[in-house]
Amino acid sequence: MSISIISTKTMPKSMALLHHHQNYAVTLLLILTIFSSIDKISKVEAKTSTSIGVNWGRNSSHPLPPSKVVQLLKSNNVTKVRLFNADPSVLEALQGSKIEVILGIPNSMLPKLNSSLKVAQSWVHDNLTRYLSDSSPKVRIQYIAVGDNPFLQAYGAHYIPFVVGAATNIQAALTKANIASQVKVVVPCSYDAFQSESGLPSKGHFRADLNKTMVQLLAFLSKHNSPFLSTISPFHLLRQNKNISLHLSLFRETHHPLKDNHTHYDNSFDLSYDTLVTALSSVGFPETDIIVDQIGWPTDGAVNANSSTAETFMKGLFTHLRKKSGTPLRPHKPPIEVYILSLLDEDQRNTSDGGFERHWGIFTFDGQAKYHIDLGQSSKTLVNAQNVEYLSAKWCVVNDNKDISNASASALDACSSADCSSLSPGGSCYNLTWPGNISYAFNSYYQQHDQSPDSCDFGGLGLVTTVDPSVDNCRFSVQLQTSFGGFLLGPSSLYFILLSATIFYV
Ligand SMILES: *[C@@H]1O[C@H](CO)[C@@H](O)[C@H](O)[C@H]1NC(C)=O
Ligand SMILES: *[C@@H]1O[C@H](CO)[C@@H](O)[C@H](O)[C@H]1NC(C)=O
Ligand SMILES: *[C@@H]1O[C@H](CO)[C@@H](O)[C@H](O)[C@H]1NC(C)=O
Ligand SMILES: *[C@@H]1O[C@H](CO)[C@@H](O)[C@H](O)[C@H]1NC(C)=O
Ligand SMILES: *[C@@H]1O[C@H](CO)[C@@H](O)[C@H](O)[C@H]1NC(C)=O
Ligand SMILES: *[C@@H]1O[C@H](CO)[C@@H](O)[C@H](O)[C@H]1NC(C)=O
Ligand SMILES: *[C@@H]1O[C@H](CO)[C@@H](O)[C@H](O)[C@H]1NC(C)=O
Ligand SMILES: *[C@@H]1O[C@H](CO)[C@@H](O)[C@H](O)[C@H]1NC(C)=O
Ligand SMILES: *[C@@H]1O[C@H](CO)[C@@H](O)[C@H](O)[C@H]1NC(C)=O
Ligand SMILES: *[C@@H]1O[C@H](CO)[C@@H](O)[C@H](O)[C@H]1NC(C)=O
Ligand SMILES: *[C@@H]1O[C@H](CO)[C@@H](O)[C@H](O)[C@H]1NC(C)=O
Ligand SMILES: *[C@@H]1O[C@H](CO)[C@@H](O)[C@H](O)[C@H]1NC(C)=O
Repeated sequence: MSISIISTKTMPKSMALLHHHQNYAVTLLLILTIFSSIDKISKVEAKTSTSIGVNWGRNSSHPLPPSKVVQLLKSNNVTKVRLFNADPSVLEALQGSKIEVILGIPNSMLPKLNSSLKVAQSWVHDNLTRYLSDSSPKVRIQYIAVGDNPFLQAYGAHYIPFVVGAATNIQAALTKANIASQVKVVVPCSYDAFQSESGLPSKGHFRADLNKTMVQLLAFLSKHNSPFLSTISPFHLLRQNKNISLHLSLFRETHHPLKDNHTHYDNSFDLSYDTLVTALSSVGFPETDIIVDQIGWPTDGAVNANSSTAETFMKGLFTHLRKKSGTPLRPHKPPIEVYILSLLDEDQRNTSDGGFERHWGIFTFDGQAKYHIDLGQSSKTLVNAQNVEYLSAKWCVVNDNKDISNASASALDACSSADCSSLSPGGSCYNLTWPGNISYAFNSYYQQHDQSPDSCDFGGLGLVTTVDPSVDNCRFSVQLQTSFGGFLLGPSSLYFILLSATIFYV
């Protein structure tokens, strides 16, 4: 972080605020604010400061309109964003803003991009050049991310053979289009691409099936002076490694640091980061710049995932980065950029790792802050999305007056497409007793289908109510209004309209 290089008169007051420990938000926004205003300085200082951005994913049944999200970013002084594909409505909303962008290419395109320079050229032509040209307001695209965590172990060898070829072709297409000096090609590396069996960072290495690809990738990155992108996931590490404590994960003080020969690790971020550093060294690239493209803490859908732990994690992370001390293996080289996972919750993310995958947001799906990290000096809270349009205040619940002994099957069915991740063990609705959990499932399905009457049928067991069934932390949501734009805008909305129609007529 570059806080110390700011010497304006507003600084002392802001720093004083940091002493109040409820002010995570101050910390985050302070950091974001500073980076937006000292853009040029931070480039010079790249070796010692970390700038902060957010991941903006759109795997949602009812995504917030792009213009509202851009407004949300601006009102919270977020200056960097990572996108997962070149959605024109998103890029158009970013036109003319100062927000810097990592633009992603989906994994599904990797095989074609590997085998054809022409395909790469048309991707660059259609999805990039027009946002960089002088004839219209520009989008500040700085990186093209080839693939979305293509090395995830769950994908097996599905994408690995195509990654470097695809990156090489995109690079060649950038050069041909004369924009290679503006835009760099990078590849996002998943948290499970590197590991250490003993848990010791000094024994870190890339997964054996990736070793060859990593050598090629790093040679490519090094040739073009591009950074290495990786997820760092203390939350996954906590779930997978019995030796890791919650204290270590949340940057809390611990009397049991992990000892790696003479080095003591007192937080899980340093541990993972240095495991990656060792892995990079072991294939011959000890000095490569690192961008942490995804780091966060979920708030629902698993044990240890709630707003309070997430807030603690974020505070710890920012305090740590602000020290600029780096990690034991890279004392003077902290990551050059760090992107929070994530801006918003996404109810369509794959839950094969767990329900928590849908709850990484610092904001809920509808742009409301989950905890009070302050991104501005004046207010002590995040600024929520404004003028959000919801469906009617209606919910679907199970009808107690019927024989509901068979309702569970309907609920399971509903959950196979709707979002029931809050019912997962440790989730915010896990404590709902039957049939409350059935109602939760029914409502989730009903909202996902834009409250169409037939989507609250469930063989006569469903009942529409105007009384909010939410209890304690378990929120029965009302979805966003998207259907008007849906027909014109998105294939996913169209899909739901078709699906509703199909269900209706069957
Ligand atoms: C990637 O593209 C190259 C060049 O066209 C080709 O030789 C290679 O077989 C492709 N890789 C795979 C795994 O298909
Ligand atoms: C532009 O990007 C979108 C989304 O990533 C993709 O579907 C489309 O095929 C791309 N266009 C070209 C010409 O590759
Ligand atoms: C979710 O991820 C798993 C593992 O990667 C995969 O097998 C499954 O097909 C994915 N589900 C969907 C709906 O994409
Ligand atoms: C946990 O710690 C023990 C003892 O230090 C070590 O032998 C083991 O390999 C560690 N396990 C993991 C998964 O790190
Ligand atoms: C531990 O560190 C010492 C000196 O720093 C070094 O000589 C020794 O080889 C290291 N041991 C291991 C197992 O890495
Ligand atoms: C990985 O590649 C490096 C460099 O080529 C090599 O030194 C190392 O032994 C390889 N590791 C494995 C597990 O294959
Ligand atoms: C959040 O999680 C922590 C750690 O599991 C737990 O101690 C705490 O009680 C939880 N808070 C709430 C409000 O559930
Ligand atoms: C998000 O959606 C895209 C396209 O529908 C899919 O390829 C991708 O795997 C999804 N990502 C997650 C994390 O679920
Ligand atoms: C964002 O930063 C600007 C100047 O850097 C500041 O004036 C403004 O108050 C900040 N916005 C918020 C919402 O805090
Ligand atoms: C519940 O399901 C069983 C088996 O399908 C069926 O025989 C029974 O009639 C159902 N009960 C009600 C109340 O629908
Ligand atoms: C659920 O109930 C258990 C036991 O009563 C309690 O420990 C836990 O905190 C509750 N979880 C939530 C999310 O309220
Ligand atoms: C609802 O709770 C009952 C028992 O409390 C459980 O058997 C059932 O699987 C739950 N259903 C869902 C959809 O979570």
